[in-house]
Parts: sequence; structure tokens; C-alpha cells
Amino acid sequence: PAGHDDPKQEQLERWRVAPEDTRLTTDQGIQVDDTDNSLAAGERGPTLMDDFHLREKITHFDHERIPERVVHARGSGAYGHFRLHESLAEYTTAEFLCDTSLTTPVFVRFSTVAGSRGSADTVRDVRGFATKFYTRQGNFDLVGNNMPVFFIQDGIKFPDFVHAVKPEPPNEIPQASSAHDTLWDFVQLQPETMHMMMWLMSDRALPRSYAMMQGFGVHTFRLVNAEGRATFVKFHWRPVLGTHSLAWDETQKIAGKDPDFNRRDLWDRIEAGDHPEFEFGVQLVPAEDEHRFDFDLLDATKIIPEEEVPVRTVGRLVLDRNPDNFFAETEQVAFHIANVVPGIDFTNDPLLQARLFSYLDTQLIRLGGPNFPQIPVNQPVAKVRNHHRDGYHQMTLQQGQASYHKNTLSGGCPAVGGEGSYTHFQERVDGNKIRKRSASFADHYSQARLFWNSMSGWEREHIVGAFRFELGKCERKQVREGVVAQLNHVDHDLAVQVAKGVGVEPPTPGIAEGHGRTSPALSQDRA
Ligand code: HEM
Repeated sequence: PAGHDDPKQEQLERWRVAPEDTRLTTDQGIQVDDTDNSLAAGERGPTLMDDFHLREKITHFDHERIPERVVHARGSGAYGHFRLHESLAEYTTAEFLCDTSLTTPVFVRFSTVAGSRGSADTVRDVRGFATKFYTRQGNFDLVGNNMPVFFIQDGIKFPDFVHAVKPEPPNEIPQASSAHDTLWDFVQLQPETMHMMMWLMSDRALPRSYAMMQGFGVHTFRLVNAEGRATFVKFHWRPVLGTHSLAWDETQKIAGKDPDFNRRDLWDRIEAGDHPEFEFGVQLVPAEDEHRFDFDLLDATKIIPEEEVPVRTVGRLVLDRNPDNFFAETEQVAFHIANVVPGIDFTNDPLLQARLFSYLDTQLIRLGGPNFPQIPVNQPVAKVRNHHRDGYHQMTLQQGQASYHKNTLSGGCPAVGGEGSYTHFQERVDGNKIRKRSASFADHYSQARLFWNSMSGWEREHIVGAFRFELGKCERKQVREGVVAQLNHVDHDLAVQVAKGVGVEPPTPGIAEGHGRTSPALSQDRA
């Protein structure tokens, strides 16, 4: 429960400013006599520079905007709690995943990806599902999506991909939609997008509520235990209410009638005490099984089918408090995939590796310099002590003369190392510097086909309908043909059905290899 037994809420308390707290003042604390009339030379005369209140009021207003996120600009957030019910101490030293008596405060931000900050909620898009766990060992951010795979395998393509998805440069059309030439041109030329495109054209891209959406860490991470033994892990969130979508036609109408539909739903649920809940699950793969699969664990365009590695449910997340201030909290929160606690480590997934650079880099400009971890929503509940100093918006009053390691002047240096400190997993790495993706990343169609095979009849109809609508808006015929040719590698029948709806000759049977594997967990009938 939110309150003073929650260290995060207690920390936020000292920043809260209630409207009735005081009389109207300037930022310097001077009480204001009149805020409707500027100071002027005579009743009809010019305004005077002396009016410090006018100048401050206008200046602050002039500087209210900060850059929106380069992706995931549109979002909604909430605080909550994570409780563990099954210890993972056999696999990790992360305390919040070992000690079932702990309650960990969290902040979650749900988002769309392509649209700008003011765009509609119910568009066809991926949804972000980012969670900041304020653990006693420091912040752990699980920066995931509501789909378990991604469009590309290597983060070096991310700027290309996002440029293809975002509105086009000449006219900034379309605002937030996959119905345009640049996206489909990228797709036809980058077959690794095919699996994710199947998800994007499915009803998963139209969540009914943020409380009815799955979440995935996407990448394979590592858990590391007290003996230094690593286990591969995929993280999952499962909504207790089940996974539910809107119908495409509904989303169109809602986007007009209530563009804040998902945001409002999240807010209202929490205000009404109908708290969104998610089960937390892990898929665990022993290190020695790294090469056991017919795909690469480091390839973010692949799932580990639940039939092969079941999801073990070990905890539960409850969202139970709305933020006080959208800008201060939901807008200024800074998630970063590199924020890990001892016992959780990365893998060599090349998409993950690029993300390790990107988030801090973008937040340095978005949030104005290196001190944004001091913004209340971003502050860990764990004690922060280091030798960083200065920078824009420095808020802390570091005590002592010496801000360097080692020193004998400031009553002793903070200790380095020892019990509880983060040590990186000692993975052996040895190789030539090359720009070449491993052959184990080459199969772009089998899991796209697995997804298609796993769909029920109505889900398939919706997928075909989505391809026809979105791809059908693509003006260049060669692009539509190119995408249909790619789909033909996924499933011939799918390609023929889409071709018929987008003015393209149905293809002859493609190279799609026939095996009809399914994964029932992928169908929303079962999710
Ligand atoms: C933002 C997820 C891939 C760069 C976000 C957010 C989420 C997310 C949920 C919103 C965070 C928030 O609510 O504040 C993912 C997932 C990915 C992925 C699940 C793939 C598995 C990438 C890649 C890059 C990237 C490959 C770059 C190489 C960014 C940037 C932001 C962002 C720059 C804006 C962050 C900010 O301004 O605070 N991503 N992303 N993402 N992502 Fe990703």
C-alpha cells in the first residue's frame, strides 16, 4: 500500500507541493501583489522592465517544453509494488528476486512507440512496458514491450528502422500509423522484420487496456547466483485480467472520440481501486543449453516457445497509485536497460548492446545533463554516494573537500567492492573484430510461420485484414509486391490472401518450408 511503509513514497513526500501550501510567490519566495496586471507607466502606458514577476512568469512559461522521447513519446505511468512469491536464490543474488518477504516499490510507464506525445492511444503499434524497480540494492529497469520479439537483430539498424516508421520527412505524414511507404519499403528489404510484423499486424497491436496486456523483456538476459553460475533468462509479465484487444474498427472510432482511451482507463482503474495486476514470470535456460535451440538465444527476433521452456511464475506486480504530476514523473522518468542490480547481467545480443549506449545518451539531452538521476521519480531508494560532481541542475550537497578516489581528507572515502557490490559475469570473449552477423541469426521465417500457424481462424482474418489495410495504403506497387514476396516465405496462403487485397498478383508457392509447428500460447484465445 502507498504510504509511509513504502520507502519510495516516503522519499517523494518531501518534494510534494500542495496548492494550499502558501500564498502566491515568485521563485524567490517573494509574495506577489497582483498577477493579472503588468506593471506599467500609467494606465495606458508601456510595461516596465521593473516587473520582475511578469518577466519571471513569462520566462518560465517560455521554457516549459523539453524534447519528447525520440521513440515511445506517448506514455502513461503509475506507481506500484512488486512481491515475490517464489525465490530465485538458486539462480541469482538479486535480493528482490530471492527474498519473498520483501515488497519492492516500482514505477511503470506504458507507451506507444511511433506517435508523438499528444497522439492517440488506440493506434496500431507496439506498446512499451517499462518498469523501474526501486530495490534496496539500487534501481533495476526492465524496459520491455508488449510483444516478445523485435523488428531488427542489431541496434545499428535502429535509426534506419525508426526513420522508416516515423512520419515521412517532406510532410510529417502519417502521424502514427504503419500505413506508409517508408515502413513497408524497410520491411521488404529487411526480412528479419517478418516475425515482428506478424505480431504488429495481429490484435496484439491493439490492446484494450494497459491492464490487459502482456509484457516481455524481449532479450535474453543472465541471472547470476552466489557461486558465479549464470542462467539465461527471459522476463515475462502476464496480466491477471487476461490479454484482450480492441477490434480494428473500434480503435478507429475511439481514437476520434477519446484519444486518451488507454491513459484514462489506467488512471480511472487506479482511482477506483481496481488495481492492474501482472504476474511476473521467467523462462530459465541453463548455460550449457545455450546452443540447444534451432535459433540463437541472442537473436531478439526469436521467442523461446513456451512448449520448450515453460514460463515459471514467481511474483506479482500491482499498480496502485497514480502520479501526482504527469510531467514531473511520467515525462521525466528515465528508464535504461543498463540499470541492473547484482545478480542480473547482459548477454551479447547485438540489439541489447546498442541499447546499453542509447538510453543514457538520449536522456542526457532530453533531461538536460548528467544529473537527471536526482529527479525524484528517478532517485533510487538505495543510498547514492560517489565522486561525481557539478553539472547542470546539481541538487545534492556533497559534503567534504575531496571528490576523488582515493583520499584521506574528507573523513574517509566510500568503500569500493566487497559484499553487495556489482561484479560483471566473467564471460569468456575471444574473437576477431568483424562486421558479420552469425549464421545462427539467418532464419527469418520459421518463427513468423510458427506465429501464423498458432493463430485461430478469427485471428488470421484480423491479420490478413490488417496487412490489406496498412500495406494497401502503400503507394509504390513494387513495395507491395516486395512485401507479398516476403510473406510468401512465411506462408503461401497468407501471401495470396494479402496480395488479393492490395492489388498485387498472387505469388506462386514460395520457399516456405512446410513444417506446421504451432505454439498455442501465442494465440490470444489462450494468452
Ligand atoms: C524508449 C523498449 C529497442 C532506443 C523505449 C521505451 C521502451 C523501449 C519501453 C520507453 C521508455 C519510457 O517509457 O520512458 C524497447 C525495446 C526494444 C527497444 C523492448 C527492443 C527489444 C531499442 C533500440 C534502441 C532504443 C535498439 C536504440 C539503439 C530507445 C530510445 C528511447 C527508447 C532512445 C527513448 C528513451 C528516453 O528518451 O527516455 N524503448 N526499445 N530502443 N528506446 Fe527502446
